[in-house]
Amino acid sequence: MDYTDFLNLTPDQRLSIVQEVANLTDEERAIIAQGNALPLEKANGMVENVIGTYQIPYAIATNFVINNKHYLVPMVGEEPYVNGSICGGALLAKNNGGFTASNTGSIMIGQVQLTGISNPFSSRLKIMEEKEAIMKLADSKDPVLLSFGGGCKSIAVRILDSYQGPMVVVHLLVDTKDAMGAQVMNAMAEAVAPLLEKITGGKANLKVVSNLAVHRLVRSRVCVKKEDFGGEPYVDKVLSAYAFAAADPYRATTNNKGVMNGMIPVALATGNDTRAIESGVHAYASISGTYKPVTIWEKNNNGDLEGMIEVPMAVGIVGGTTKVHPMAQLSLKIMKIQSALELAQVIASVGLAANLGVLKSLTTVGLHADFDKLHSRSK
Ligand code: MEV
Repeated sequence: MDYTDFLNLTPDQRLSIVQEVANLTDEERAIIAQGNALPLEKANGMVENVIGTYQIPYAIATNFVINNKHYLVPMVGEEPYVNGSICGGALLAKNNGGFTASNTGSIMIGQVQLTGISNPFSSRLKIMEEKEAIMKLADSKDPVLLSFGGGCKSIAVRILDSYQGPMVVVHLLVDTKDAMGAQVMNAMAEAVAPLLEKITGGKANLKVVSNLAVHRLVRSRVCVKKEDFGGEPYVDKVLSAYAFAAADPYRATTNNKGVMNGMIPVALATGNDTRAIESGVHAYASISGTYKPVTIWEKNNNGDLEGMIEVPMAVGIVGGTTKVHPMAQLSLKIMKIQSALELAQVIASVGLAANLGVLKSLTTVGLHADFDKLHSRSK
């Protein structure tokens, strides 16, 4: 099915297409159509001090082909032009096979900060000697995760040179599988802290997940034929735009904001923690010591445009808001998501499509002109 004209349909017509493609029941269709899926009682159970709910448009990004699978991607966001531009980026990708995405697995980091240790180097070795016992203790906090093949896979010990003197920081490396994992990481870090105190004679202070999920990276790449991009001079303009972003944190920040325009709406639509994603992605963007664009663009030997993204992406499809919010469940169903890693790959690909869509506008007609063209067409 070609969704190119999705933009010109009414919300009801669009919903009919989504219902058919995603096999939604009439009840599920009604939940989306009525626009107030989250009852007050549920909202009140989610966070403290609730007085109501707040609604934001729920849209669909079309044209996504990722690892040969076709997706309709739910997007929750308030910014005009973003969804239309992303569909344009995805169409450019689709014309040449779509996105190819991969990941490094779903290992999260839980940190335990140990203070008051005058012999950090021998403490580090003592902790490593007790690695098995520490991992076993961590695993005892989540037998269900263990039964799914997850759990603590390793530990690492870092010695920080803080302004208060040396600090020993233990990292629990835990495969959280289809869970985002913040809760289980906190629980495991708390569980092992007394043992770490006993081993080192130090005092455990913070015990908490790290949102810099460097062992949970997701990657996506795309190739756009130069003919589909208006020819090689326009490919070169994108390379120049990328060189600008790579050389200048002011431009890199805006570039990455545009990438977030794609990623965050999908995370919201699926009930994921957008702040965890944002903090992780921005930290990863500056891991070299300078803030960099999270997307890279280059030209292959044919003169075609190749783009890629690599970011940490800690998202889940079980537990938390994903489980409680009816729209989050429906979003996963619409995308036919099978695993958290698949969702992470979709999110990264949508981020790359957002960057591509914007770069196409910026290097051709300009954002303002494109905005008028796209937004006025949507009914
Ligand atoms: C606007 O929300 C995002 C852009 O400024 C991103 C960019 O300039 O790359 C269009």
